[in-house]
Amino acid sequence: MGWMNDPNGFCIYEEYYHLFYQYNPESSLVPGIAHWGHARSKDLFNWEHLPIALYPDQWYDKSGVFSGSALVEDDVMSIFYTGNVNHPGENPDHEQHQILATSSDGVTFTKSKIVINGSEYQPNFRDPKVWKHLDTYYMVLGNSFENNTLGRVLLYASKDKITWEVKSVLDASNGSLGYMWECPDFFPMDGYYVLMFSPQGIEPQGDRYRNLYQAGYIVGEFDCECHTFTPIQPFRELDHGHDFYATQTIIDKNDERVVIAWMDMWDENYPEGPDGSTGQMTIPRTLRMTRDGRLLQHPVKEIVSAVGLELYSGKARGGTKIKLDKNAGKVEVHSSNRKNFSLVIESEGGNDTVTISYDCRNGRVTLDRGGVDGVRRTEYRPLCEFYMVVYIDSSSIEVFFGNGEVTMSSRFFPQGPLTVGVAEDSNARVMLVNDMKRTVPLPNP
Ligand code: FRU
Repeated sequence: MGWMNDPNGFCIYEEYYHLFYQYNPESSLVPGIAHWGHARSKDLFNWEHLPIALYPDQWYDKSGVFSGSALVEDDVMSIFYTGNVNHPGENPDHEQHQILATSSDGVTFTKSKIVINGSEYQPNFRDPKVWKHLDTYYMVLGNSFENNTLGRVLLYASKDKITWEVKSVLDASNGSLGYMWECPDFFPMDGYYVLMFSPQGIEPQGDRYRNLYQAGYIVGEFDCECHTFTPIQPFRELDHGHDFYATQTIIDKNDERVVIAWMDMWDENYPEGPDGSTGQMTIPRTLRMTRDGRLLQHPVKEIVSAVGLELYSGKARGGTKIKLDKNAGKVEVHSSNRKNFSLVIESEGGNDTVTISYDCRNGRVTLDRGGVDGVRRTEYRPLCEFYMVVYIDSSSIEVFFGNGEVTMSSRFFPQGPLTVGVAEDSNARVMLVNDMKRTVPLPNP
């Protein structure tokens, strides 16, 4: 119950994945004063709630224990987070510092102190992501500069996790990429480096940047000696649905880079709020890179192997509708890349509908959840067949196209039982699996 936003402190500690999140235990209607909520899982599929990990109980975090990350060494989990302090009526009206907290049981945490004060980077100076390379710790931080009109990412280094020195500005907005870069992450992949972040303030351009804020990445080269990052590609959105923000990545138990995001968006008022809980995480997704430097996303294999009851398998007939139990399931579609296709997910009575369609002539895919601003669309031109997998949960839809080249993640709140069908006769092969409750045991990593 309550309010949840960004994933925080994603890590592996002993045999568990730990995932923390921005949490307001008091209300589901407002973000309130952020705490760190806490859950753990052995398989990224079945999660267990743990007590609140961090409360806003110090002068330096009294207005919010903001986002951050975790680093595990031996039996100690170190958490780096942003302490937010508001100064109502003053200018600037808040300040932010980076704090270290530690745990030696993965459940209870002791705050140590402010490790980066950052007086020259106030007031928007937040969301530390920390990692270790050889004998050095690194941290990226989101920041705004030029009077809060431009966003950027700062790189810090430390030998002891306590004393930090700023090394470089990894990249910065020139005006076209917004006024603040939140939740940065920086990691190597296939010989390149990926700078992932959530910029605020990018103007919509056609089908791009339609959400209030974006989440995306820039691929480039990193010079470890000079700490300079040279982009070789423009900023790209990581997901093309309505609700995808504040990403965080880790290396999982299978040695793969996995990303998770908050599947919601600031300023959206979804009907779950009045019901008592706001916010959801996406399915964790493994990341790979294509030869031309684009990220591919796949649901982690723990989710893929969570097999349910097969409800339907065969050629899709226009008008056929298959009912989902518990409003959750997975649909797989194989179709010709030279034929239009559309899948309709609707509630009884047809009042709430999501349509996912492929337009072969223009090489585009669209997700339309109806209502105001219901459409999200992006380019997608499969070279051979058109293939997509749709994960439907009782209040969300995540679509993976092709080999994960394009994903669309959106919240959806159907009133009543759902059916899945195809709009018109097509030669598509459709397989529908119900509610993925039964998990198969995983081999030991
Ligand atoms: C991103 C964000 C972070 C901040 C947190 C506060 O959604 O604004 O920059 O740390 O949420 O809850």
